[in-house]
Amino acid sequence: MFREKLSNAPYMTSFDDVYIVPGRASLEPREVDVRTRFSSSIELLVPIASSPMDTVTGSELAIALALHGAIGVVHRNCSVDEQLEMVKRVKEFPPYPLRALYAEFNEPCSRVLESLRNEGLRDLPVIRDGRVVGYVSVTELLEHCRDNPLKPVGEIVAKSSAKPHRLFTLANIREARREVLEGRIDAVAITSSDGMYVGTLTLREALEEYTPLTDDDGRLRVAAAISPFDVARAKVLERYVDAFVSDVAHFHNVNVLKASRNLVRDISRDFIAGNVGTYEAVVDALTTIEVVHGFRVGIGGGSICITSEVCGAYVPTLWAVASVRDALEDHGAGSIPIIADGGIRTPGDAVKALAAGASSVMLGYVFAGTDEACAPLIAIGGRLYKPYRGMASRGAMARRYALDRYARISKRIAEGIEGLVPYRGPVSKVLREFVEGIKAGLGYAGASSIKELWEKARFGRTLKKYTPQDLIPRLR
Ligand code: XMP
Repeated sequence: MFREKLSNAPYMTSFDDVYIVPGRASLEPREVDVRTRFSSSIELLVPIASSPMDTVTGSELAIALALHGAIGVVHRNCSVDEQLEMVKRVKEFPPYPLRALYAEFNEPCSRVLESLRNEGLRDLPVIRDGRVVGYVSVTELLEHCRDNPLKPVGEIVAKSSAKPHRLFTLANIREARREVLEGRIDAVAITSSDGMYVGTLTLREALEEYTPLTDDDGRLRVAAAISPFDVARAKVLERYVDAFVSDVAHFHNVNVLKASRNLVRDISRDFIAGNVGTYEAVVDALTTIEVVHGFRVGIGGGSICITSEVCGAYVPTLWAVASVRDALEDHGAGSIPIIADGGIRTPGDAVKALAAGASSVMLGYVFAGTDEACAPLIAIGGRLYKPYRGMASRGAMARRYALDRYARISKRIAEGIEGLVPYRGPVSKVLREFVEGIKAGLGYAGASSIKELWEKARFGRTLKKYTPQDLIPRLR
């Protein structure tokens, strides 16, 4: 009986065990469409999310990711107020970075003229008490400055013919950008929905290559980690987040399932259940919780996880994804998106996860070394690093909210480690490498989209893995 259990144990495939077998391609990699779903109602422009960890996702990383079509999941290893503050900062950040470029109502026109010349602009918005009252143009300033260089610019605005008279808000910022790119206006004031000045968009900002991921009001999208037991926190965050991502190490637990059922009844945002790693966990989740808008998949596969050593439990992320996708398909829930979470280090791993049925991938290690990750930069022996720690490491657990996620802390067991990762520079660069790699991977598989990858991808194995890195001496 026990011997049978061992000898019948299934072989659980992980990233290094298989490769994508190239297929017939009809598109160039740059034509591949990598748009996908993060959750039932949230689309991503690129299939990438960040891990909710206190050395990874705060507002800075979430903003940078959303500006490039991905999504950040803000960590919860902090007070509700701190988490709310981070989420609000993302929502209040303009979807195209703006500059504080304006004239104050009482500013002398000679000074405003100088600013316009320095910036090489024709028009400038004029602000009074935080509101845009109009625009002035260089021509008008020149005219008035001749008579009285100290004349307050506000007095000119009333008679100004400078464009635009139309107000642009965060919701229609894309139109403002188009106007700027097409040369109709050269400095547009963007306001919030209640008319307060947010910033100015000029050609310099409009030319930057951003593909912002925005909600229906034009604000950047952001998700937040939550414990299914923490309804109070969810209620506080609900107004500002697009989705809640369950942040529980072992979601397949009767109490967690029941708590999630109650939470989902109480909140109006998408709820992504996790972490799960098996077919059975998904079946139980689908039967217990009325609506699940996504699954976060992977148990013990993270780079900082020691769950397999400490507890003996582990499902390789690739295997977990395939198991969850099968369960969803078998139960008529094939449209529910899966986030592959843990152990994804390269774009190649991401392609394999997507090919095994994931809709997006979640990255902790990869983002931990970027400028925007929420840990300080450290220099050691002339090299730069950033701290990275598991949310069930001793350090992270010392903070209150990690207690919820890894209940075994009551037994004083850490399931994560703390360390340093090499500094990688801006996240936009790392993201671009990943997206390009994923597109190229889809290209090899002969797929034009992630959905097509699910159908077309074939996996192959080798007896022993030889990568070019094994065969040529390492350069560093
Ligand atoms: P990577 O490989 O991207 O994995 O660094 C990040 C994911 O690891 C999970 N996580 C943990 N798992 N102990 C664990 O067993 C931990 O302390 C821990 N902290 C994070 C989490 O799913 C994350 O997204």
